[in-house]
Order: sequence, then structure tokens, then C-alpha cells
Amino acid sequence: MIVREGAVEIETISSFEKGPGSVSPGFYNRLMEASRDFSVALLKTMKPGIALDSMAGTGIRGLRIAKETGWNVVLNDRDPRNTDIEKRNSALNSLEVEIMGEDYFCAVSSRKWDYIDVDPFGTPSGLLEAAIMNLKNNGIIGVTMTDTANLEGKSLDKGIRIYGSRSIHGIYSREISTRIFVKYVMERGASLGRAGKPLLAVRDGHFIRVFVKFRKGNKIADDSLGELRAAEVEGKAVGPLYMGKLYDTEVINKMEDFPFSENSRRLFANFRNEDLMFLFFSNSNDRREIKKSTIIEKLKEKSYKAGSTNFNEKGIKSNCDRDEYTKILKSL
Ligand SMILES: C[S@@+](CC[C@H](N)C(=O)[O-])C[C@H]1O[C@@H](n2cnc3c(N)ncnc32)[C@H](O)[C@@H]1O
Repeated sequence: MIVREGAVEIETISSFEKGPGSVSPGFYNRLMEASRDFSVALLKTMKPGIALDSMAGTGIRGLRIAKETGWNVVLNDRDPRNTDIEKRNSALNSLEVEIMGEDYFCAVSSRKWDYIDVDPFGTPSGLLEAAIMNLKNNGIIGVTMTDTANLEGKSLDKGIRIYGSRSIHGIYSREISTRIFVKYVMERGASLGRAGKPLLAVRDGHFIRVFVKFRKGNKIADDSLGELRAAEVEGKAVGPLYMGKLYDTEVINKMEDFPFSENSRRLFANFRNEDLMFLFFSNSNDRREIKKSTIIEKLKEKSYKAGSTNFNEKGIKSNCDRDEYTKILKSL
């Protein structure tokens, strides 16, 4: 089957449009389009360098990067059935990219990279140090985790074991899980004397994807840990988690004109709101739900910044303080 995404067409053996699927070669997952859109859009904002798609599957992410951004791309997958598909997909798109059929660790350590994409099934636990060590200075990691249940679902104890932080159930879990995952990625860098700077984070469907830039230096690596802290949420201790800015404004500004898919455009529209505050306000007052757009409009009328969040359908982000927000809500 041939599918089209972004500027490429690719051959797949199996695909699905809804829900997590089987782990088979040539597998294409439409639900991860947003994750790929943001890799491509991000690299398009930067001076082209060399990128490794370390777990490439059909090669769709790396091929999109090659076609849509002008970066040099190397595709890698340890399954030879996938490397065959990657070869056919490169030819289908008239692209000449290097294709490796190595284990992840061999591929990442084969040279120094400006960008490494790490896209495993489940958790990237155990994979990130090798990638970070083989980045050039100021290189970027794009990494996915799909074991969100360990930070949001029934297995929070497993989340503590894997990610080293306590998460929480409930309306804030998607933001807490994202911030714990960012912390996890930054900590891996700090242990190697690299300071991580988050560029953007996506929480959608069953995955979290973050992009973090790493700069070498023990002192700045020490300083980067200052933003990894514990917090109290709904009377419970959570964390440690990343409490700093999740989005780099300059990068977001440059991504504005990217031809995003409809879902990615919806997610992108909220990126500017996410750093207005830690967590978000709810739209209900004494169990009375007020239309989100009415509240946002009122906040803006009072010269506050306000908008929706990707972390909760009913949540509102604003730079208004909590007391003032409660007053406004009561007045509606
Ligand atoms: C989630 S899929 C990648 C999907 C792909 N990046 C995309 O956007 O469609 C994970 C891939 O990693 C490959 N893989 C798993 N473990 C690996 C390892 N240790 N070294 C190299 N490839 C590996 C699998 O064969 C599989 O194709």
C-alpha cells in the first residue's frame, strides 16, 4: 500500500489509522503524523546539518526531513525487512539517502550528528545517553515515549522506576507526565556534562515527543538541573519534574508557515499558550461549567494573555493570577 504524508509517498506493508498497532516490518502509523510533522518543521527552522533517523521503520520521518528541509539524512533500522522498504521508499521519492541496517547503538556511535531521532516502541529508557554522547555541540535529540500509562495510568510505580519521578492521576496528568519526561531527557544529558534546553514538547494521542538541544559544559549542565524540581499538585507531592519553559519562542515563530496537517496545526496553535503558567485553570466554577471561549474572551478583554492547552480539553492557560481568575469566573 502507498500512503502520502507531507511531501513524500511511501510504501508500507501494514498500517492503521486508529489505536496502537502490531509491531511488524513496514509498519506505518498515521497517528504519529504529528510527531513527524514537528520533527520536520523544527529542522526546517535550522541551518541544515546531518540527521540520523535511528529507528526509521519505513523511513518516512527521515525521508520527509530529506525532502522537506534539505538536511542530510541517514536512515537506520536493525530489521533488514525495514531497510529493504527504506531503499524502495528512497527511490520512490527520488532521494539519495544513506541507509544503515545496524543496531541502534552502532548507528548512533558511527559519527557525530546534528540531530538524532529516537522513536522506539514504548520507552526510550537505556537509549538516550548513547545518542546525547554522539551529538555535536548544540545538537538536538527528538525522542518519543509511548508508555504514557506509566506516568498517567494505572502503573505509576513503574513510572517511578523508569523515569525516577512520581506522577499523578487526574486532569493534570498529561502536563505532569510531559514535564517528567522532559526532566528525564535533561537529566541524561546533565550526567554527561551537557545542558539540555527544551525546544518543544507534544502530548497527543498515546505519545509524548520532546525536542531538546544539548550544549556541552559542566557548569551549564549543573545550572540546567535548577529547573528540575518537586511540586505539590492537588495536595500531593509530584516530581521531580521540569518547571521551566517548554517552548522556544524563536523556534515557534519560525515554524508558523509550515504546512502542518490539520491535527498538527491544532496542536501548534496552543504552543504559545502553554508557557503562560504551570498547569492550567479549569472552566468550572462551583460545578457550573462555563464555555471556555467566554472565559478566554473575558481574560483578553482585561488585557491578560489566555488560550487553550493541549494538556486538557477544558483547561485554560493564562498569565492572570489565581485570585483574579476566580473573580472573573464568578462574574460570568
Ligand atoms: C516505532 S518504530 C519506528 C517508526 C518510524 N520512526 C516512523 O516514524 O514511522 C520503531 C522501529 O525501531 C526499530 N528498532 C527497534 N529496536 C532497534 C534497535 N535496537 N536498533 C535499531 N532499530 C531498532 C524497529 O525495527 C522499528 O522499525
